[in-house]
Amino acid sequence: MKKAVKITTIGGGSSYTPELVEGFIKRYDELPVRELWLVDIEEGNEKLEIVGNLAKRMVEEAGVPMDIHLTLDRRQALKGADFVTTQMRVGQLDARIKDERIPLQHGIIGQETNGAGGLFKGLRTIPVLLEIAEEMQELCPDAWLINFTNPAGMVTEALLRYGKHQKVVGVCNLPVNVRMTIARLLGVETERVQIDFAGLNHLVYGLNIYIDGDNKTKEVIEILADPEKQITMRNIAPLPWLPEFQKSLGVVLCPYHRYYYKTKEILEEELESFKTGKTRAEVVKRLEAELFELYKNPDLNIKPPQLEKRGGAYYSDAACNLISSIYNDKGDIQTLNVRNDGAITGIPAESAVEVNCFVTKDGPVPIAVGELPVEVNGLVQQIKSFERVAAEAAVTGSYEKALLALCINPLVPSDEIAKNVLDDMLEAHKEFLPQFFQNAGEAGYR
Ligand code: G6P
Repeated sequence: MKKAVKITTIGGGSSYTPELVEGFIKRYDELPVRELWLVDIEEGNEKLEIVGNLAKRMVEEAGVPMDIHLTLDRRQALKGADFVTTQMRVGQLDARIKDERIPLQHGIIGQETNGAGGLFKGLRTIPVLLEIAEEMQELCPDAWLINFTNPAGMVTEALLRYGKHQKVVGVCNLPVNVRMTIARLLGVETERVQIDFAGLNHLVYGLNIYIDGDNKTKEVIEILADPEKQITMRNIAPLPWLPEFQKSLGVVLCPYHRYYYKTKEILEEELESFKTGKTRAEVVKRLEAELFELYKNPDLNIKPPQLEKRGGAYYSDAACNLISSIYNDKGDIQTLNVRNDGAITGIPAESAVEVNCFVTKDGPVPIAVGELPVEVNGLVQQIKSFERVAAEAAVTGSYEKALLALCINPLVPSDEIAKNVLDDMLEAHKEFLPQFFQNAGEAGYR
C-alpha cells in the first residue's frame, strides 16, 4: 500500500491550478495524492474559491479520493506536507503590467522574467519564498519545495544561497515544450526524443538531440533553421532565427533567447503592443477574466481547453512528473533548476542551473555537462551574474545592488536608463518591496 501524499500549493487561486489538478488526477494510481491544500492570501480569496470549487468538481468527476482544502492559513496548510509547490504572483497581474510597461516607457524591453521586469518580479518574490522556506523547515522539514514562481532561475539561486530549507527544485514548462515541439517537427512520439539541456532558466540550450538514442543534432538544427519551423510559446512573438545563425550556433535555442539575439525586433514588437494596451500582461489579464468566468460554471468539471492559451501550458507535466519520480524513486531524467554542484564547469557549485538530472527518492542529481560551448558560455555567465546580484539585492534591499544588477543586464543599454527605470519601478512597486524602504531616511532608499 502506497503512502498517501499531502501536497500544498501556494498561490492555489491561480488560473493554472486546474492543470495541476488534472495532472494529479491522471497519475493517481502511481501518485496517490490524498490531500491537496490550495493556499492563497486574502486578496486572492475570490479566485481561490472559484478555482478550488472547480478542482473539487474535477476530482469528483474523476472519482479519485483526493480531498481538496481551500485555505488562507499557510502555516496550517504546510504542516506535515510531503511536497510544497509555489506558483504565486506577488502583487498579482497588476504588478506584472507595471513590470512590462515601465521599462517600455523608457524604451527598453519589458518582460516578466528578463531585464528590468524580471529583476522586479524577483525583488518582490524572493523575500516571500524565503519566508515560506523558513516555515517549511519548521512545519514540514522533509518536504520538497517545488517552485514555479518566476523568475524561476533567480528565485532558485536565492533559495539555494539564502534559504533555510535546502530541499528546493525550480521547475519550468519550457524544456517540456521544446521537447514536444521537436518531436512534432520530426513526426515522432515525445518519449523517443532526448535532449541534453544545459544553461539557466529561460536561457537553456539543447546541446544534443537524440532519437531512440541516436544523435540527430545536425538534422534537428537543419529543421530549426527553417523560418517556418520555429519553437515558440504562447507568450513570445514567434520571430524566426536567421538560418545562418541557427546553423552555425549548432545547438537548439529556446524561445526566450529571442530577447537576447533579436533584441531590436522584440523591442519593436513590444512597443507596438505597449501603444495598443496589448502587452502580454494586459492580454493575460483579459484571458484570466475569461477563464474565471468559465471556471464559475457549476457544470464545468474538467480543465477547459482555453487554458492552453497560456504560456505556462504543460507546467503540470513538469511538476507532477518530478513529484512522482521522487515518490516512486524512478531514477528517470528530467530538466530541472538545481544546485550546480559541478555539473557546468565555470559556474559556482552553489549556484542554480537548469540541467538534466536523475530523479530518485533523494531528489534530483544533476548530470555532468562539463564546459558549455564557447558560443553560449558568455551569455550564460552574464545572466548568472545578473541573477546573483539581483538575488542579493532582493535579500538586502540594497539600492546599489539593484542598480548594479540592471547595469550588468544585457537588455539595459545604459547606466542612466538603468537608474531612471529603477527609480520609477521602486516607486511603482513600493507596497511589495518593504526591504527597500525600511529604515529609509529622507533621501529615500537605504
Ligand atoms: C512560459 C514560461 C513560464 C511563464 C509563462 C507565461 O511558458 O516558461 O515560465 O510563466 O510562459 O505565460 P503567460 O500566459 O502568463 O504569459
